[in-house]
Amino acid sequence: MKILLLGSGGREHALAWKIAQSKKCEKLFIAPGNAGTNDCGENVAIGVNEFEKLKTFAADNAIDMVVVGPEDPLVRGIYDEFKQDARTKHIPVIGPSLKGAVLEGSKDFAKAFMQRHAIPTAAYATFDGTMIEEGLKFLETLKAPYVLKADGLAAGKGVLILPTLDEAKHEFKQMLGGMFGNASAKVVIEEFLSGIECSVFVLTDGTNYKILPEAKDYKRIGEGDTGLNTGGMGSVSPVPFATAEWMQKVEKRIIKPTVDGLKAEGIDYKGFIFFGLINVDGEPMVIEYNCRMGDPETESVMLRLKSDIVDLFEGVANGTLESCNVVFDDRSVVCVMLVSGGYPGDYTKGYAISGLDSVGDTVVFHSGTALKDGQIVSNGGRVIAVSSYGTNKDEALLKSFTEAEKIKFTGKYFRRDIGSDL
Ligand code: AMP
Ligand code: GLY
Repeated sequence: MKILLLGSGGREHALAWKIAQSKKCEKLFIAPGNAGTNDCGENVAIGVNEFEKLKTFAADNAIDMVVVGPEDPLVRGIYDEFKQDARTKHIPVIGPSLKGAVLEGSKDFAKAFMQRHAIPTAAYATFDGTMIEEGLKFLETLKAPYVLKADGLAAGKGVLILPTLDEAKHEFKQMLGGMFGNASAKVVIEEFLSGIECSVFVLTDGTNYKILPEAKDYKRIGEGDTGLNTGGMGSVSPVPFATAEWMQKVEKRIIKPTVDGLKAEGIDYKGFIFFGLINVDGEPMVIEYNCRMGDPETESVMLRLKSDIVDLFEGVANGTLESCNVVFDDRSVVCVMLVSGGYPGDYTKGYAISGLDSVGDTVVFHSGTALKDGQIVSNGGRVIAVSSYGTNKDEALLKSFTEAEKIKFTGKYFRRDIGSDL
């Protein structure tokens, strides 16, 4: 099979690494890819939202399958675009339709969907610019801290958690006033939930689903979960509190009703569903849905997936996922993200990176890199993900730290406490 993978981050390098191991993959293209994905296939200089160019490339190169990494093209309807074009309608796209991607693209839709299907989540209400007074009154009925969410995609920055009612009221008005542009034309206000978070991933063909290894990510820049939010500073899989019993609750109360609900509502969904969960006194609740894999969770999860991922994608595309086998590696995996100094604030790109070999039980994924005059250089806030196996989490952590020390670039920073709270 000839496969076209879309994206350019660490998630896509991990997906490319896994796809390239498949016996069924005869050629892998990555659009646009990064300096690391080039080792797994061939990078193609087309952006993830350049649908016309992607369709032409897919048709001209007899692509058999498109795998979508990030949410942006999904929320913009890449699945439907490929289906509606005579040149590409036969090519399966792994990723939901425009309607399915709304699970991630609109928080209001996701909350209403969960309510319709009795899926456990925080109590909420949604307000637009004509409902400011009602929103302020609703805030007064809640306890601190206050959770405000821009309805639409806001580059991961659309959720505010405010300690006081005054701040919540102020920010609520700011959001409706255009703080996140059109994304905050509607604002979801919800009850604050207290607990540890966990990311659960499934692949679905629209009827059946397979649960992939779960993971926990670390969003704050500083050790001890302090400082600003980032795209993710590391991840751990498995997650010790996600016991078989807890995962059964997740499957029965959350995964199955979600997949059944999508089908019942006539939503075409063939791809990944990412359940952002929180463990509230032993009970799983949904914080958010994403219509793609997580980053940096994928950089752990792919190492723990023993099955051929292209087999699973074929099952997704053909509606035969039920007959596929998902086998997990029992070992622990810890991913440590190396970031540019200054991130998530201002940082400098273009520093030469050395020491990048994957050695032994460690796999090095590129997150934000580029090739400049034959030299791999930093090209983003999150630069390199170092993922290692261990017989347990601590062993995996130690291996990732040891390898992380050997990779050098100016201003490199990483958290040394990934997984230590579990
Ligand atoms: P989201 O974009 O919905 O995942 O929200 C970003 C982050 O905000 C989550 O990963 C949580 O850490 C936090 N968060 C969102 N909703 C809630 C909630 N209802 N209670 C507590 N924390 C929340
Ligand atoms: N790691 C969280 C996300 O990918 O959204």
